[in-house]
Amino acid sequence: MSTLSFGLNENVCIVTGGTRGIGLEIARVLLEQGAIVVICARKQDGLDAARSSLNGGDRLMAVQAHTARSEDVDRLFDAALQRFGKIDTLINNVGMNLITTVIDADPALWHKILDSNLNAAFLCSRKAGQIMRRQHRGKIVHMSSIAAHRAAPAMGIYGIAKAGIEMMTRVLAQELAPFNVQVNAIAPCMVKTTFSKAFWSDPALHDHIVATIPMGRLAKPIDIVYPTLFLCSEASAFVTGQTLNVDGGASIV
Ligand SMILES: NC(=O)c1ccc[n+]([C@@H]2O[C@H](COP(=O)([O-])OP(=O)(O)OC[C@H]3O[C@@H](n4cnc5c(N)ncnc54)[C@H](OP(=O)(O)O)[C@@H]3O)[C@@H](O)[C@H]2O)c1
Repeated sequence: MSTLSFGLNENVCIVTGGTRGIGLEIARVLLEQGAIVVICARKQDGLDAARSSLNGGDRLMAVQAHTARSEDVDRLFDAALQRFGKIDTLINNVGMNLITTVIDADPALWHKILDSNLNAAFLCSRKAGQIMRRQHRGKIVHMSSIAAHRAAPAMGIYGIAKAGIEMMTRVLAQELAPFNVQVNAIAPCMVKTTFSKAFWSDPALHDHIVATIPMGRLAKPIDIVYPTLFLCSEASAFVTGQTLNVDGGASIV
């Protein structure tokens, strides 16, 4: 447990995709910080496992929801609002990639990747933004990727979706600025999770990727957590529309 304090006690935080990887680690540290946490995912077994591993008691709510489906997103936010009475923070963490070139991609694959990244983030931020505008208070953090900033093999459609998320971050930041709602994004390099296992489990590919990161290693989920919590906290009260690269220096070389 860290001694860092982000002043998030009693803040109600929704973490989409909170059952493994980066989202699970964010949920864990938010609970340590005294926040009330709502996680969602598609699979009930993942939600059950996360609930028992997080051990958050009444301060944790786990909702089965597919964030690319507007009826699921409405149900998720309505349930959180009904139980806790407010939503302080949305961490729009859901994302997925299917390995393909853009030029040969089946249109169905294109739609699937756009749906689970860009459309899902739109549906959740739209719902959260409407609630936060009424509250005159809120924080939205989008999970982007450094794949949004350069053409990377096998990650083309994903990079296009994440680039859209970064533009949406700026647009929503501008729309919600008069209502005391800040909208920012985090862009990690490769993080060791299930999501990226196809890349880091191949030793040659792993070493090739690490060679592009000045700090000489892949990120761990915890490396992403604290910069995210900074963007959820009052310490970032005058920061909006920004993307923070959390990449061990990968973007500077
Ligand atoms: N890992 C990396 O190298 C890396 C690098 C840069 C950025 N990122 C971004 O960081 C975020 C988290 O990545 P991660 O590595 O932690 O991924 P992960 O280990 O694959 O976890 C993804 C989480 O999202 C849930 N999920 C996926 N699609 C969903 C949907 N449509 N609706 C609801 N829940 C959904 C999953 O549960 P279910 O399967 O049960 O739905 C799971 O809880 C993503 O946005 C990713 O693009 C990751």
